[in-house]
Amino acid sequence: MSEQLSNIELDAQSRNRIISEMDKNFFVEAGAGSGKTTMLVNRMVAMVEAGIDINKICAITFTKAAAGEFYARFQRLLIERSNPDIQWKDHGFAGQLPEPTEESRARCLNALQNIDLCFMGTIDSFCYMILSEHPSEAKIPSDSMIIEEDELKAFYHQIYIRISEGDYGKELQDLSKVFRSLNNLGEHDVFQTAFPFLMENRNAKVHFQEIRTADVDALFEEDWNQLLAALRTVMDHPELAAAGTKESVKAWEDLADAYRAVSRTWSTNYASVMNNIKKVKHLRLKEDALDQYGVSLGEIFVKTGKRKVWLACEEWISELLEQMQSLQYGVSMTFMNACVPLIEEELKKKGYLSFFDDLLYLRDMLKKDAEEGGSLIRYIYDRHSYFLIDEFQDTDPLQAQIFFYLSSENPDPVWYECKPKPGSLFIVGDPKQSIYRFKGADVASFLNVRSLMEKTGGAVLKLCCNFRSRTRCWNTLIACL
Ligand SMILES: Nc1ncnc2c1ncn2[C@@H]1O[C@H](COP(=O)(O)OP(=O)(O)OP(=O)(O)O)[C@@H](O)[C@H]1O
Ligand SMILES: [Mg+2]
Repeated sequence: MSEQLSNIELDAQSRNRIISEMDKNFFVEAGAGSGKTTMLVNRMVAMVEAGIDINKICAITFTKAAAGEFYARFQRLLIERSNPDIQWKDHGFAGQLPEPTEESRARCLNALQNIDLCFMGTIDSFCYMILSEHPSEAKIPSDSMIIEEDELKAFYHQIYIRISEGDYGKELQDLSKVFRSLNNLGEHDVFQTAFPFLMENRNAKVHFQEIRTADVDALFEEDWNQLLAALRTVMDHPELAAAGTKESVKAWEDLADAYRAVSRTWSTNYASVMNNIKKVKHLRLKEDALDQYGVSLGEIFVKTGKRKVWLACEEWISELLEQMQSLQYGVSMTFMNACVPLIEEELKKKGYLSFFDDLLYLRDMLKKDAEEGGSLIRYIYDRHSYFLIDEFQDTDPLQAQIFFYLSSENPDPVWYECKPKPGSLFIVGDPKQSIYRFKGADVASFLNVRSLMEKTGGAVLKLCCNFRSRTRCWNTLIACL
């Protein structure tokens, strides 16, 4: 009970600090339904009431829907706080704004009239706004525009076709041929799925072995001969079949088809060969098959099972598949990675920006400016000085870099050496709710930023009360009595 009480006291203290310490940076870590967004909106109003200019405040969130809700909540609270006819009531909970004064009412009214000067939107629209104000520094055309995912994919596809036709040189065309042959039939799908991922993660290093050419048939000649001889023998002698599992029965059923596919040239049928090899992976033969046909089976089939009473080829085939997959991966990554700078250039020429480009180009622009003394950062800071970020766990790690540069007193080219000005940063998030981890928004970077905020003079606050769960709320109430 005493621990619960102290948690509640801590929670109350955090909420009160959020609405009263305007010159402190905070990193608020809290669970779902703990009132994170409520506290962020309360802080915005507290800032307004403390005399901060509304057009210097930027509230950033991750989705358009959340940004809309934000706007509505902020507007509602400003109406409530500016209208003298609305009676202030003490609800008795921490983090509630104090009774308005005449001065705070006037400030809220002014903010309400100028609410559209306050930036409330997604991180993408924020980056886009700053980039469009400084296109030449960002090295993008002044009429750049964001294009949607579908359009972007169609654009990638067009360039892919042009690469295959040789429009971007023979070297890349040759690489595209190897890529195509190792992904035969599915090459468009592979490119459409994997390439956008590479584009969106081009600030991260992806590890792969670079493979530019591969004589597939020569590389797998020995395996090809061995596998074919073994499958032929098995096919000719159905009496060798060992009673087994559903999978092994299925493997026997698929044997003839698999044999036909595997006997074709691998270099031109790579993906279908791999699929068919998988089908026969679970074949089981009687133990004595080796006595009779060991010459053709011996390399591939080995005694298996606890009592070694049947023969299986699973291990041999798994190893072969692993080699084939790593060749396919290496070639595919080499090809797509070579396409990245080229397609980036093409996008820039057209003035197309993806959501990720926004973040990347803005980060690059700020980094470069920090290297050159930071005059642009200071200029931007003059206009946008207070950054309140909701759902921080869901955003790309580049976002943290951007706000550390933008809020920095003395911008340092190394973003984590930047010291945010007191009161300029307010970050809210719940690491447990991260849904975009695959896009690079990982918990590690969330925790990194938390410790950076502490190191640079900010404070980490925790909110532990939950206002959505009835039981927990009830528990809280009881604990408070
Ligand atoms: N101090 C409070 N006392 C009572 N109810 C509150 C308090 N703060 C927030 N609430 C209520 O709790 C609910 C959740 O609030 P809010 O949306 O701010 O939480 P959140 O932590 O941002 O949620 P999510 O994790 O979904 O983003 C809302 O209905 C809100 O009105
Ligand atoms: Mg919220």
